[in-house]
Formats: sequence, structure tokens, C-alpha cells
Amino acid sequence: MTIKIMFGPDNQFPPVIKTPLPPKTEQQLTPAPEKPGIGRARKTNSSSMDKERDKDKDRDKDRDRIAEILAELESYIGLVIVKRLIRDLQAFVEIQKRRTQEKLIAEPLVLHMIFKGNPGTGKTTVARLVGRLFKEMGVLQKGHIIECERADLVGEYIGHTAQKTRDQIKKALGGVLFIDEAYSLARGGEKDFGKEAIDALVKSMEDNKDNLVLILAGYSQEMDWFLQTNPGLRSRFPIHIDFPDYTLNELLAIGKLMFKTRQYELTQEAEDALRFHLHSLLSSHRYAGNARLVRNLVEKTIRKQAVRLFQKPSSSREELIRILPEDINLENL
Ligand SMILES: Nc1ncnc2c1ncn2[C@@H]1O[C@H](COP(=O)(O)OP(=O)(O)O)[C@@H](O)[C@H]1O
Ligand SMILES: [Mg+2]
Repeated sequence: MTIKIMFGPDNQFPPVIKTPLPPKTEQQLTPAPEKPGIGRARKTNSSSMDKERDKDKDRDKDRDRIAEILAELESYIGLVIVKRLIRDLQAFVEIQKRRTQEKLIAEPLVLHMIFKGNPGTGKTTVARLVGRLFKEMGVLQKGHIIECERADLVGEYIGHTAQKTRDQIKKALGGVLFIDEAYSLARGGEKDFGKEAIDALVKSMEDNKDNLVLILAGYSQEMDWFLQTNPGLRSRFPIHIDFPDYTLNELLAIGKLMFKTRQYELTQEAEDALRFHLHSLLSSHRYAGNARLVRNLVEKTIRKQAVRLFQKPSSSREELIRILPEDINLENL
């Protein structure tokens, strides 16, 4: 390891040591302050080897948590391309970090994203996961997500909008600012306050580039139009992810998973009925490939089963778990 020693201009002061020192020398130069207290004994006595081992353990824990989050991503139904993109992104970020550690040139980590897709295709779900992933990877400090839409950003008089937008950004610092139906910010044209919100967002992106990930979400066509009308914005969002509508089989699998995680089971007849209803939903509903509709259906079905069981004074464990075809509830989806 090379150590760069810089002398002050008048040579009177001791040299300033710039590059990292081997752990031992570092310890001799700056002894760790002795802090009294429970549980500190081992730490203050620990040698540099112990420290290295602790660091390795921390790294292992981080890796475990990242693996857990990626396993959760895999557990989502469908979303094949989305999953691959997130995995690629994780590899990219990790390698840029390793390159930085080796003092190699690294690509700038600009991680702002555009999520395109219909409602209920998993955009918010994936955004939450991305926040957590980036936190574990050390890209974001907190990894939380602040969800907002036009009304949370745009005010009613001059100056109000910039303030409102800044407030949301402040809440999101260290995490993800997720703007749903972001295209609506450009709807009113030049004179609309939406433009002020976009300008405030762009400025904040620059000011907080190391500690904020912005995700703009919305219908595919509208988002394309939005980015076309704002070329300055487009260049700031290098990652675009498409969320396709779910197929019938995927919707069915999502429904079954939702029942299972809530400790319910469909009888074979109930599963057939669910498939039949989802099929008719697909041909009748505007945004049919939509997991939110399935979630509503699952929740309504659970309530209907409860009403059915409540008519008897007691129920067996099996009865409490089992969903029958007549429980499947499609009202007001
Ligand atoms: N691939 C999936 N697997 C399992 N559940 C999903 C999946 N996609 C979406 N969901 C569920 O569907 C609901 C709506 O998803 P959400 O992420 O809010 O969609 P969007 O933000 O695109 O409108 C949520 O309850 C979510 O948990
Ligand atoms: Mg959403």
C-alpha cells in the first residue's frame, strides 16, 4: 500500500497523511476512545483482526438481507422482465461500488426510474422493494418510500407548488419518492403550476443526487408523451421498466397466493369458479390484467365466507380455512 505524505507550506507542522493506512498504524495514531458501559468490553479490547472479522460479518449480514429481498422479488407472480431488470441493476450497482473501493473509474449511479403500466400491475410493490434493496446495498440511507401524486405536489398560487414539492422531497430524502400518474404534471401546459413542480423536482434531483431515488409512474402511453414533452426530464431517468398486464393464469396464481398467505384454501370447485370469474373479468374490465382487482375480490370473498360461517354457532378449523364457490364475491370490483 502506498502512503501519500503531504507537508504543510512552511514545514513546521507534522505531515498530513492522506491515503488509507494499514489498520495497525491507524490504531497507533488514533487510539479508539475508551467508552465505559455494558457490552463495550469486548470492543475496546478487540484487535484489528477482530474488527476485520466484525466487518466481514456485517458484510455477510448485508448479503443475506439482499438475498432475502431478491427471494421476495422472485416470489412475485410473473413479472419476468421486471425481475431480470432489477437483478441486472443490483449487479451493476454492486460492481460500481466494488470499482469505487478499488479506486477505479465507476459509472455514476443515477438510479431514477420510470415505471410504465396500467393500475394494479405491481409498480408500487416493486418500488417498495427497490427502496429496501438500495438501502441494504448502501445506496440509500433509509430506503422508505413516499408515495404522492399531482395534488400532493401542485399548489394553488405562485410559490405554493415549489414549497409543496420541496416538502415531499424532504420527506423522501434517504429513500424513494414515487410519483403516481406523473404525466398529469405536464397536462396543463406551460402556464400550469404542474410545470413549477417539475422544475422543483429537477432541481432537487441535482441537489440530492446521492440520497434520493425518484420513480415516476403511470400509464405507458401517457408516460411516453410526458417524456417527449420534457426532453430534459428524459435524460435524467436512465432506467425504464414496463409492467405488462397479468395474464389469466397469472391473476389466478396471484389470487391463490393471496388466499394462501391469509391461511385460506380454495376447494377445487372454488378454484374453477375463480378462474371462470377472472376470465369474464378479463373480457369486461378496462384494466383487467390487474392484481388490485384480484386483491379486492379476495378480500370480499373472505368477508362473504365469514357471513356464511356466522350463520352457524360454531365452525371447525377446516371450515374456517375452506373457501367454497358460493363465497366468491365479484360485487363492485
Ligand atoms: N406479481 C405479483 N404477485 C403478487 N401480488 C401482486 C403482484 N403484483 C401486484 N400484486 C398485488 O396487487 C396489488 C396492487 O399492486 P400495486 O403494486 O399497488 O400496483 P400498481 O402500483 O401498479 O397500481 C398489491 O396488493 C400487490 O401486493
Ligand atoms: Mg400504485
